[in-house]
Amino acid sequence: MKVKKAVLPVAGFGTRFLPATKSSSKEMLPLVDKPLIHYAVKDAIDAGIEQIIFITGRGKRAIEDYFDISFELEYHLKFHGKEDLIQDMRQISDMADFVYVRQKEPKGLGHAVLRAKDVVGGEPFAVILADDVVENKISGTKQLVDVFDRYHCSVLGLEEVPKEDVSKYGIVSGKEIENGLFKLDNFVEKPKPENAPSNTAIIGRYIFTPKIFEELEKTSIGKGNEIQLTDAILSLSKKEVIYGKILEGKRFDCGSKFGFLEATVEFALKDKEIGKEFKEYLKGVVEC
Ligand code: UTP
Repeated sequence: MKVKKAVLPVAGFGTRFLPATKSSSKEMLPLVDKPLIHYAVKDAIDAGIEQIIFITGRGKRAIEDYFDISFELEYHLKFHGKEDLIQDMRQISDMADFVYVRQKEPKGLGHAVLRAKDVVGGEPFAVILADDVVENKISGTKQLVDVFDRYHCSVLGLEEVPKEDVSKYGIVSGKEIENGLFKLDNFVEKPKPENAPSNTAIIGRYIFTPKIFEELEKTSIGKGNEIQLTDAILSLSKKEVIYGKILEGKRFDCGSKFGFLEATVEFALKDKEIGKEFKEYLKGVVEC
């Protein structure tokens, strides 16, 4: 069976970006001229995904509006002769079939994913966290879909992180079966460095078989008083093989201020319109 659906949880409070996220969504923070959520949807589309299921919450209306048609904007652009921009705006709403499911309270990533159960049904599906922007010729989701198409098992996106950072991630261990591809056997949410089974972290790209929903339904409140996706993955691993793939490309942790600024600088430097000018500007700032 092909992976055609992706779940994008966007119901978190984004507390690391307060006060910016007090009245607007973290996923709408822009990297140059496109919001983080645009890059996440593109990552899915490039993997052949056709339906995007957003798990939304209070204050997330801007995401729905972003992927919808804006008649007022189109009227305004037409009036000012900017027909090409109308096409660009239409392309955004035409990217996929968009579905919205509410998570009434942000009780954790596992709880958010479980909200998608009825819409996903009995199919394999992707989970994409917009916080993690993966820059590579082959999208992060596509790299995992390629593994899924070979083994028909759940696959997690992985990255080696510095030992001192393991407490920020779900950490895994397992047997490397080919370069960068692991059969996983242990999963721990945000361990202390001394308790971590490795320094291989799960990053925000996953493919799951629908069995994950049964495990999520049985998962009780875990670390941080939240229903943790990592706990459900550990239970699933007792019943099914789970693979992990070190993702190729550069990953930016845009859920943190530093990672977001790194991505902003690098995307701006590569931007066709402003890249050259921005580089000169940065040189001047750094030399001062
Ligand atoms: P994070 O923990 O990174 O996001 O969750 P957050 O809670 O919004 O941000 P901080 O940590 O307070 O700064 C990863 C993803 O899961 C979603 C978030 O929106 C984010 O995209 N999420 C998290 C939910 O949809 N529901 C939840 O209950 C928790």
